[in-house]
Amino acid sequence: MANTQWNDVDDYLTGLLAPPDEALTAALAASAAAGLPEIAVAPNQGKLLHLLAATQGARNILEIGTLGGYSTIWLARALPADGRLVTLEYDPAHADVARANIARAGLEKAVEVRTGAALDTLPLLEAEGAGPFDLVFVDADKVNNPHYVRWALKLTRPGSLIVVDNVVRNGRVATDHPDDPGITGTREMLELVAREPRLDATAFQTVGSKGYDGLLLARVIG
Ligand code: SAH
Ligand code: DHB
Ligand code: MG
Repeated sequence: MANTQWNDVDDYLTGLLAPPDEALTAALAASAAAGLPEIAVAPNQGKLLHLLAATQGARNILEIGTLGGYSTIWLARALPADGRLVTLEYDPAHADVARANIARAGLEKAVEVRTGAALDTLPLLEAEGAGPFDLVFVDADKVNNPHYVRWALKLTRPGSLIVVDNVVRNGRVATDHPDDPGITGTREMLELVAREPRLDATAFQTVGSKGYDGLLLARVIG
């Protein structure tokens, strides 16, 4: 649903600043060949995640919603040699594709793909004493966004960064859509973030090869 100009500009900017390499190209090709939906972040958005993780000095990253591991690779490439990333994926077929893509990118030692519904695997992470995570990227089923942000708060520390994808959805977020659980979940999440004193946040609209959408950035401040 991207217009031609958005695509042209994304191609131009991505070509200059986030050019694909072998592992990223192969990850998208293998994901498409396996029939995964083509809903990974755009390359320049992947690069944004990478820069945010690097700026954070992130050593411990949590991702909720792996798909084929495309965003995972961008994030994990920002880790120091002893850094770790855990990514949670419901669909075992997606997780298999992701593991292969992550291994091809040489990141299998740093990255763990955990299969299961995130609301089941997050409590296990907590019980193991995983975290605090320096960055959490929320990009799974949008209906559970409020739960994921609550979990992100539990598993982070002051100074951590929480990023939530797909918060605009063609502008639909601005009004109530009781028929659309994804929009309802995202609106509830935004309202939760707004009234949460431990979070300092912004959200903004994006256009490009992935259409018209947006991101939320929230810094944990207490
Ligand atoms: N972050 C990826 C895209 C993720 S797409 C990227 O940008 O490259 C959303 C993913 O969340 C899908 O793979 C979907 O199977 C997964 N998902 C959906 N519901 C989930 C749940 N309850 N727990 C964990 N993952 C879930
Ligand atoms: C969808 C999910 C995403 O994470 C995304 O970035 C785009 C679309 C979806 O479920 O349609
Ligand atoms: Mg997304």
